[in-house]
Amino acid sequence: MTTFNKFSTGSLTVPKYLATSAWLEHIPFAFWLVEMHKPRLIVELGVYYGSSYFSFCQAVQENNLLCTCYGVDNWTGDAHAGFYNEQVFDKVNKYNTENYGNFSYLVKSDFDEALNSFDDGSIDLLHIDGLHTYESVKKDFYKWLPKLSEKKHSAFISFGLNYKSNILLFLSHMGMD
Ligand SMILES: C[S@@+](CC[C@H](N)C(=O)[O-])C[C@H]1O[C@@H](n2cnc3c(N)ncnc32)[C@H](O)[C@@H]1O
Repeated sequence: MTTFNKFSTGSLTVPKYLATSAWLEHIPFAFWLVEMHKPRLIVELGVYYGSSYFSFCQAVQENNLLCTCYGVDNWTGDAHAGFYNEQVFDKVNKYNTENYGNFSYLVKSDFDEALNSFDDGSIDLLHIDGLHTYESVKKDFYKWLPKLSEKKHSAFISFGLNYKSNILLFLSHMGMD
């Protein structure tokens, strides 16, 4: 039986990077997940200002993991996050280059276009945080599912606080309710 540590020293790490995000309270979970799971390839769909993405990168660096990270976003925004200008990408790209440039790469494209850049069965940790509608999450999940490695439990999805009903709907459609 698998035993999970509820707490780890890693989950109490102080985040080095904080920016506008609905994800801030989940950062200790990201630290814990990376420390426990020790992924070799992390992909995030939906980076925006980078609060979740850079918490994965910080955990990789502080745990001295041999892991490559890719953050995919078109950096134009969407109907829920709002639409924004090039300054967001410039800020995120600068921070990435200065802090994690040796193992982290930003992919400025639509999720569908980036799909062919990753081999099937290669991604150990996939964080889907794009547009939070039910149909969009479902599409992203099923398109990217073949990319997951044998550590399949490592895909997770962020739904906005206003979209909790979508979680229940999605899980019920997957037979997980
Ligand atoms: C909810 S925000 C990401 C929040 C981020 N993970 C954080 O920690 O704050 C969603 C992002 O996904 C991007 N996005 C949505 N749909 C996309 C698509 N089909 N292709 C590329 N980027 C997309 C938007 O540009 C936006 O920056």
